Amino acid sequence: MSNNFDVIIIGSGPAGYVCAIRSAQLGLKTACIESSNTLGGTCLNIGCIPSKSLLHASEIYEKAHNDFSKLGIETTNIKLNLSQMMKNKKESVLTLTKGIEFLFKKNKVTHLKGKGSILSNNTVSVKDISGKKINYKTQNIIVATGSVPTSLPKIKIDEKIIVSSTGALSFDEVPKELIVIGGGYIGLELSSVWNRLGSKVTVVEFLDHIIPGMDQDISSEFLKILNKQGIQFKLDSKVTGISVIKNKAIVDSTNNKNSKRERIECDKVLVAVGRKPNLSEEFSKVGIKLDKSGKIEINEKFETSVKNIYAIGDIVNRGPMLAHKAEDEGIAVAEIIAGQAGHVNYDIIPAVIYTSPEVAMVGKTEEQLKKENIKYKIGKFPFLANSRAKVNNETKGFVKIIADEKTDKVLGVSIISELAGTMIAEIAIAMEFGASSEDIARTCHAHPTHSEAVKEAAMAVDKRPIHF
Ligand code: NAI
Repeated sequence: MSNNFDVIIIGSGPAGYVCAIRSAQLGLKTACIESSNTLGGTCLNIGCIPSKSLLHASEIYEKAHNDFSKLGIETTNIKLNLSQMMKNKKESVLTLTKGIEFLFKKNKVTHLKGKGSILSNNTVSVKDISGKKINYKTQNIIVATGSVPTSLPKIKIDEKIIVSSTGALSFDEVPKELIVIGGGYIGLELSSVWNRLGSKVTVVEFLDHIIPGMDQDISSEFLKILNKQGIQFKLDSKVTGISVIKNKAIVDSTNNKNSKRERIECDKVLVAVGRKPNLSEEFSKVGIKLDKSGKIEINEKFETSVKNIYAIGDIVNRGPMLAHKAEDEGIAVAEIIAGQAGHVNYDIIPAVIYTSPEVAMVGKTEEQLKKENIKYKIGKFPFLANSRAKVNNETKGFVKIIADEKTDKVLGVSIISELAGTMIAEIAIAMEFGASSEDIARTCHAHPTHSEAVKEAAMAVDKRPIHF
């Protein structure tokens, strides 16, 4: 193997592996360095994919208990086999990570196993598990090393009692009491999993609402739904410390409004207060500039402050920490390096929480538009009035479309629905084409589908929904 490449990518998560495949498709001699045993990064190994496996399995388990009999399906003696549920999750992860190995071979991407470091703007070194180092020359380096969980001051994650998402995806028994610190994406998805499997779950959230960044309407409706499902919430509460005594944890928190202190004992604590860039010291040694939050600064071509070094994914200072944003950046940077016009539209990146019902949004929230002094109109449509949702007993939630008051251009859409994550794609396409709410309202939507609620919400922008 020659040690000269056109592109070397450090990291094989959704940013890195997609970039590697696209680079190779474009005829660039490409290598991807990965230090873990399997490809796919956080998303495939300890993030999106295993969490979706547990969300899916636990949802069916919960439905078997509570919904099946209403549908005329009698079940007796439903039992949880947690180790089988975990085995199923592992198998799915393995199939998908092996799938990337296959795609690398198919596209002739060289997989360099070991820890990559940047020696200069055209040399990287890879240290394998035996400690052997090999240097490689390359025209372009792409940093795609992702992110790692953050914790709180003085709180040490041991992945046994105080866990990050990694530990909470692999409990070997259902915790009797689980405290989740942080009511964001990770906190709420994993609260749902363990609540369905039988834990008493309490979410402690610093702010007075959950899922910061989403539309407030959605956030308060979602809170009510999760509460009804049995998840307890302590909002406006700051966790100040956790002590571990024997096999129990004691979580101390202080209410932000009345300064009242509270102590709760539990079996496990999940710390889900965000993620931070997975940086390596040599990035600053070679002169890569970081922003105040420690993320790599990039321009619209994904270039860092060092010539020939690019960065994409969770580690950069543009866009949210989401796998699909990372994938799009991977494709765009490969195309730019190959002389094409790669581009990511950061204004239209959908975000989805995969609970039941799901929550999804794209574009701006009502709060953002108020702040930006943009005049808007709103159309809302509840799933209670959607025939397909009604027959499926999936009537929770609504579609909220916000359009510009004068031009009617769609500015943002939020959805709570069993199928919100799939439905939001229609909106993303409409927004990419600069659609007005009238365009959506006049597009024929199949009947009976949940998507008709999108059409009706678009009609509601102009105060003319049919079924509500
Ligand atoms: P997050 O930023 O979504 O939520 C963290 C929450 O913790 C915030 O609500 C914050 O107010 C709260 N918090 C912070 N300090 C606190 C304290 N001392 N006491 C109580 N609450 C406190 O972060 P999360 O959930 O850890 O997710 C990390 C990243 O992973 C996110 O950026 C998200 O984009 C990504 N992710 C996406 C998923 C998806 O697309 N479905 C699923 C899981 C993660």
